[in-house]
Amino acid sequence: MIFPAYISNSVPVITGGGKSLDFNCKFFDGRRLLGKGKTIRGTFWGIFSGFLTGIFLIYVFPSVYFPSLLFLQKVEVSFLLSFGALLGDSAGSFFKRRFGFKDGQKAEYSDQLSFLVGSLILTFPFFHLNPTGLVFLIVFSYLIHKLTNLFAHKMKLKKVPW
Ligand code: CTP
Ligand code: MG
Repeated sequence: MIFPAYISNSVPVITGGGKSLDFNCKFFDGRRLLGKGKTIRGTFWGIFSGFLTGIFLIYVFPSVYFPSLLFLQKVEVSFLLSFGALLGDSAGSFFKRRFGFKDGQKAEYSDQLSFLVGSLILTFPFFHLNPTGLVFLIVFSYLIHKLTNLFAHKMKLKKVPW
């Protein structure tokens, strides 16, 4: 069920580049609003791919992917998971800049989990997550993020392994 968020958050590593999502704007503190690591192209294709993944899951895994929801709710939740992931990821960047972190600098936990927070906040009316499920999602997402970024670094898709 969380898979569209994972896709949305990872596709920008491949599709990113070009114009910055913050249009190079600065915040009151004189630092960039989000930084050059968040781009329009990366964000657009990330959200689009995550959404498409959700649509795919609706048809291919109907008994696993939000089986209790109506079709349009499943479409909606697919978009919100995907959009929420990059909204959360961008919010993470916003706070990194406010705390003086350079573009791409490591921020443990925020780097791995801000996308998950965004997705879960936007979809909470659709999710019946018990505490065990939540802890599982946090730990699993953290580890998956670490592993995929290490892999992306080894494949020379990312300069840094985080
Ligand atoms: N990316 C993008 N658009 C996004 C998110 C990511 O284009 N909305 C691309 C960028 O090329 C970015 C790469 O994916 O450099 C890795 O993303 P991430 O690690 O999330 O960003 P950082 O470069 O580390 O930036 P920040 O310090 O703001 O987290
Ligand atoms: Mg990063």
